[in-house]
Amino acid sequence: EKGGHDYFMLKEIQEQPQGVADTLIGHFAHGKIVLDEQRLHDQELREVDKVFVVACGSSYHAGLLAKYAIEHWTRLPVEVELASEFRYRDPVLDRSTLVVAISQSGETADTLEAVRHAKEQKARVLAICNTNGAQIPRESDAVLYTRTGPEIGVASTKAFLAQITANFLVGLALAQARGTKYPDEVAREFAELESMPKRVAQVLESADRVREIARQFAHVPTVLFLGRHVGYPVALEGALKLKELAYMHAEGFAAGELKHGPIALIEDGLPVFVVMPSPKGRAVLHSKLLSNIREIQARGARTIVIAEEGDDTVRPFADHLIEIPSAPTLYQPLLSTVPLQIFAAEVAQARGYDVDKPRNLAKSVTVE
Ligand code: F6R
Repeated sequence: EKGGHDYFMLKEIQEQPQGVADTLIGHFAHGKIVLDEQRLHDQELREVDKVFVVACGSSYHAGLLAKYAIEHWTRLPVEVELASEFRYRDPVLDRSTLVVAISQSGETADTLEAVRHAKEQKARVLAICNTNGAQIPRESDAVLYTRTGPEIGVASTKAFLAQITANFLVGLALAQARGTKYPDEVAREFAELESMPKRVAQVLESADRVREIARQFAHVPTVLFLGRHVGYPVALEGALKLKELAYMHAEGFAAGELKHGPIALIEDGLPVFVVMPSPKGRAVLHSKLLSNIREIQARGARTIVIAEEGDDTVRPFADHLIEIPSAPTLYQPLLSTVPLQIFAAEVAQARGYDVDKPRNLAKSVTVE
């Protein structure tokens, strides 16, 4: 059942290339993005003037990533909010608001209540869900299924990558309906997405190296994670994985915030993960992060850097370097998240914890 692995989660990490590929199947036909199960018509997508993404936990981190792609491709404002906060603050919603509710289980009470609130306010609701026929898709106007198969490990891994993928489909469908991207651009993005599973598989090939690094840090009290732009939600997700699996204090920061407080935490020997953006993307992002690494290294941090292969500029500042294949900036999280999942799982195992069933957590949280 566990496919030769000790834990479901380790199997699920390995299944990620397939989950991304399966989530894309059938969504591009006759030169167009198709959101199947869709009860939202192109006309309704054209009328959207604002997008809210609501979710919890890892699904919320996938939502944070959706913002970068949807805003970039559609020029629509996107707000991402924790489902548990959303309905208590009187968000501004109307019939031209699209609410995207992301939930692996489709049963999360906070997210379900956010969906109900959005519907009461006449917003259109699109669910991104991994569980056929669950409550959240049933109550939504439309659903886009992540097709990564049941996720048994309590900590979300393959569902997270599939959710990111589904978000891209929503962004491209909106861009297509609204004409903010030409059909050939949409086709090119889809082709790029289709080529991501083999790059995810390449990242998995370096799992042993990540495990070796993890064992060196298995008994430290704290690990920090830094990223910028799409690397920031990845940093948050890396920290969440470590908290929930290894019961370790971990925090993710936007690297630019360092000097506004968190840099005070840096001390001799503190391990800090840094998610480097592609050097082929915006040069300014890359150089800003380089100077962040330099700053923390000068204060004694032990840096574990995730960077694109061939990015030699980071070498002098990386105590440990984890290389990932090259990818367009928006798609890099599909790669950079994977070493962080493996790291957390290995630390948890080294500490003797049950990776599939972390203490105090449930796979689906059906109470608010
Ligand atoms: C983290 C994790 C949780 C879930 C969250 C939302 O690894 O599994 O944070 O992501 O409880 O669950 P769903 O996506 O089922 O609504």
